Amino acid sequence: MKWETFASAALLAACAAAGTAQQPPRPAVLTIQVDKPVSPVSPTLYGLMTEEINYSYDGGLYAEMVRNRTFRADWSGLNDWLLLEKGDSAAAISLDQTTGPSDALPRSLKLEVQTADAHDPAGVLNDGYWGMELRPNTTYHGSFYAKSDGPDAVTASLVSNPTGRTLATATVTGIGGAWQQYTFVLKTGAIAAGPRNHLELTVARPGTLWLQLVSLFPPTYHDRANGNRIDLMEKLAAMHPSFLRFPGGNYLEGDRIADRFQWKKTIGPLVDRPGHPSPWHYFSTDGMGLLEYLEWCEDLKMQPVLAVYAGYSLMGQHVNPGADLDPYVQDALDELEYVTGSADTQWGAERAKDGHPQPFHLTYVEIGNEDWFDRSGSYDGRYAQFYKAIKAKYPDLQLIATAPVKSVQPDVLDEHYYLRATEFFHDATHYDKTDRKGPKIFVGEWATREGVPTPNFGAALGDAAWMTGLERNSDIIVMASYAPLFTNVNPGGLQWDTDLIGYNAEKSYGSPSYYAQVMFANHLGNETPASTLENGGAKFFYSVTHDSAKKKLYLKLVNAASAPQPIDIRFTGASLTASARLITLSAPDTQATNSIADPTNIVPVDSTVPTGAGVLHHTMPPYSIQVLVLDQK
Ligand code: AHR
Repeated sequence: MKWETFASAALLAACAAAGTAQQPPRPAVLTIQVDKPVSPVSPTLYGLMTEEINYSYDGGLYAEMVRNRTFRADWSGLNDWLLLEKGDSAAAISLDQTTGPSDALPRSLKLEVQTADAHDPAGVLNDGYWGMELRPNTTYHGSFYAKSDGPDAVTASLVSNPTGRTLATATVTGIGGAWQQYTFVLKTGAIAAGPRNHLELTVARPGTLWLQLVSLFPPTYHDRANGNRIDLMEKLAAMHPSFLRFPGGNYLEGDRIADRFQWKKTIGPLVDRPGHPSPWHYFSTDGMGLLEYLEWCEDLKMQPVLAVYAGYSLMGQHVNPGADLDPYVQDALDELEYVTGSADTQWGAERAKDGHPQPFHLTYVEIGNEDWFDRSGSYDGRYAQFYKAIKAKYPDLQLIATAPVKSVQPDVLDEHYYLRATEFFHDATHYDKTDRKGPKIFVGEWATREGVPTPNFGAALGDAAWMTGLERNSDIIVMASYAPLFTNVNPGGLQWDTDLIGYNAEKSYGSPSYYAQVMFANHLGNETPASTLENGGAKFFYSVTHDSAKKKLYLKLVNAASAPQPIDIRFTGASLTASARLITLSAPDTQATNSIADPTNIVPVDSTVPTGAGVLHHTMPPYSIQVLVLDQK
């Protein structure tokens, strides 16, 4: 059905339902004074917030296919690894606590083979993160650390679960008695793509083989070694995010101080990274370490918003300000030097050694996470101590506080909102009256929490209503980021309901909320023109921004009601071209959604509308989010 026909049919249906046949509802009247900017729009308004939660990196963005590659996922060390005894072979596996290739990885998987030969090999298999996605004619890069007192060759094979067919295989030879890294390449042929596959490592001789850091990577985004999944990076790229807030979130803090994100243990060769338990109750390999986060920023042209551990952990442990906190402050200063220092500084040299001589540009540093949970009252003092030390060395850095503080005026305050759609409807004006003389605001986490594992269309309506308020107030809201960003949708993959993007080993999808973000973030002007609204309904929201360089006007409209919303839009102070682009995201019901099985049920639809002479008579469908892109003549 054509849009105009749909709109008038929907209007008539609504009138009939309301018993007002012939009398469509009175239109809202929106007047936009294009030539009268009232406030600037932050160019960094839309960005990403990320942490290791819901298998966001391991089993998610970080493209590693081998699960529990360092044998630390559980107490046994052998989670996700199974013994393979083909034919008449006989073998056993165990966790050897006494030997490993590095101080960081002092343990290993021990494969003791009593009987094996080329026909009946023995070994281990790994099922990956709920499967291993294989594509036709694709190259996979593998590696492991090993030592042996017998078998001097290991065969790596990718095997189909349903058929048992070997889809790619390679043999590594020359394995000796000292720990060493070995690499291999597995190439698939004309196979059907799919995730129901596993990796086998087998030997054809009796003896003992020790393994550690078994790894397999598919092609990655920008072909980075140790890199990221292409489909997920493409989804993020489509959002045009301006920043990445990392590494948390709760993940920064850890349950206890010992479990915090210790950045120094996340850099350098993977074999020197011990990994750590995360507050989201699974083990993190730290393959996604500090440098990988920064390279992720580089790949998507985002600025890093680096959160440094500030002496408070989730279960209530804290470090008192003063001498006790000094080592943590120094650790943050070292981290800032690693990120921004030239290669002739101590930590800049370390970064260069890790393969990135060029310093990264950094503007924002966040001191802690959600320190309003710290009941000890120590945050004020902790923030001030970090603030003074960082500003002394890096006066230009903008320092974000995660709770209100009094002893110093923070540059930016991070505020979080996890609400229902109706709450966001009521709160869309939240920042309209905020004091413009206080700190700038970073809405570092927010989401409408409706829908599992990813938000439904009702949530997208709540999000869009909230985003109109963020845009209108982006003279003080410098940045905002939805959270959490990712979830693996397999059973057991989720720790937090309602996540923006879902995936399994095979594919990924964007929720309706994801598409709302894409629509908003891709159409952000540099100033907000004056506007007035008359007769707007309780579930109608809008924001308007103007790109003065491109001479484009972006009008975001949200109709969260079950009836159509007529609007007369008047533009003053500019003449517009005869037609405008209209992008529509809508659904028949708030519970409608996207899923791994139905990934594109709700996606933006493009159309063109005439702008009219001075007044654009527009009707929004029920439950809809729209962006009108208008060009000035
Ligand atoms: O986004 C999930 C969690 O919510 C974050 O880790 C934490 O900062 C907040 O409480």
